[in-house]
Amino acid sequence: MGSSRGTYYSALKQINRFANSPLSLRRVCNSVAKSAATAVQANGCRILCLNPRKEYLITSGAYGLSDLYLKKGPLDVHRSLPDILDGKVVFIADATKDRRVQYPQIAREQGISSILGIPILDRGDAIGEIRIYTREPRQFSEADKSFLLSVADICAVIFEGAELHQLLEQDYKVSDKRRKSSRVSPLPTTTLRPTTFAHPSEEDFAKLLDFYCIEWLYEPRSFPLRWDGDKIAEMFTPDFYLPELDLYVELTTLKQNLLTEKNRKLRRLRELYPEVNIRLLNKNDFLKLLAKYGYGPLGEAKVEGVDRVLYSHAKIQRRVRTLARHISRDYAGQQLVLIGILKGVVCFMADLMQNLSIPVTMDFMAISYYGGDGQVVKITRDLDSSITGQHVLMVEDIVDTGMTLNYILNHLSAHNPASLRVCTLLDKRARRLINVPLNYIGFDVPDEFVVGYGLDYKGQYRNLPFVGILHPELIKDRKPG
Ligand code: IMP
Repeated sequence: MGSSRGTYYSALKQINRFANSPLSLRRVCNSVAKSAATAVQANGCRILCLNPRKEYLITSGAYGLSDLYLKKGPLDVHRSLPDILDGKVVFIADATKDRRVQYPQIAREQGISSILGIPILDRGDAIGEIRIYTREPRQFSEADKSFLLSVADICAVIFEGAELHQLLEQDYKVSDKRRKSSRVSPLPTTTLRPTTFAHPSEEDFAKLLDFYCIEWLYEPRSFPLRWDGDKIAEMFTPDFYLPELDLYVELTTLKQNLLTEKNRKLRRLRELYPEVNIRLLNKNDFLKLLAKYGYGPLGEAKVEGVDRVLYSHAKIQRRVRTLARHISRDYAGQQLVLIGILKGVVCFMADLMQNLSIPVTMDFMAISYYGGDGQVVKITRDLDSSITGQHVLMVEDIVDTGMTLNYILNHLSAHNPASLRVCTLLDKRARRLINVPLNYIGFDVPDEFVVGYGLDYKGQYRNLPFVGILHPELIKDRKPG
């Protein structure tokens, strides 16, 4: 058995067309999975994407697999084909016996024999996987593998585009009308964003999570609870999974009969899957949980006035880790001086520093603004140590018009450092008046006033663990501070 070159070629052409179509990520990946499986004469295919911390794989699209198989949950990468993380192709001859298969019993029930895993790489870094399934045991040819590696390259581009898509979708949230007109209903196999929830309280819960930018998956996994011989007789599907907290959540009302039944299932689930972290929440519990993480109406931190959260704490941390990796790589073998301007940069500076793997020292400056428009800069605290002949990285919280940074860079250059670069967490490009060079950028922010994670409005909001947009009506004058 084996496909011809022509088959691979036309499948790749078709897959490229899907990749460039305006369909939702889910539908693009479903179509890619179908074309890939058909071309290699397999029974099923799944396109999986890795979460940024590389802990679990989530289904982005699938073909030829049952709902039960797809809903067996996000796959733990370290238990399920960890070689994929090293960019290796993985072959499993018999899925029912191989110890690397996380759910062998379900594979048996579904009649799956052989599995081929192809890593999806972005500049050598694993970001997902294509998994091919066959009912009959079989080997895959080199031609099959090289075809699937090309499909994986296209998937990497699709995922990259989807990140852009997600950013754009955040803007859609502002206008419900636009959002509705852009909505494409996903296929029934969806484990990501559903358009309908089983219960209105679930939708409220999802909205609250969205407000705080807490990543969530709806009904991502079904846990078998009871078996009748080889068949599953009872299952439990928690409502949500919050990957950043590694927490499954089942929402509940206070109706006693439902509560008793759910408690029974949860007890059983905990017996069978002790490693699973699951909570039964009513509305009050949920608010308390949010408060524990510094969010929500019961939290201590000031959130009123924040229109919406732009970057969650987890998202900022991920981005800071990536920036730190790039900086450590670029300055390998060198000593670096980090310079920050008080006070907005404190959170970013502290997190960035801790993630750098090269030797660093740091220094701070303080400035004040004067003049009619509040934009003439004066240094009120200068550096403690000389930077002459040193590699200097200017660390900024946000670059807006660029006037402050331009002034500071001129001041620092006069001291003849060996090199001078800039790393900013936020780049508000739309308001730029002076073209300043930015070497490392965390996020491009829209033209809105943002607070949190060190950034303030009139001295407030600095301690929020996220970056949020301040309600425009609260901002009377926009003097930097
Ligand atoms: P620039 O000189 O216009 O680039 O302004 C830079 C300074 O303005 C930053 O260091 C902040 O202190 C402040 N700033 C600009 N935009 C914001 C914002 O959206 N939130 C909080 N502070 C801001």
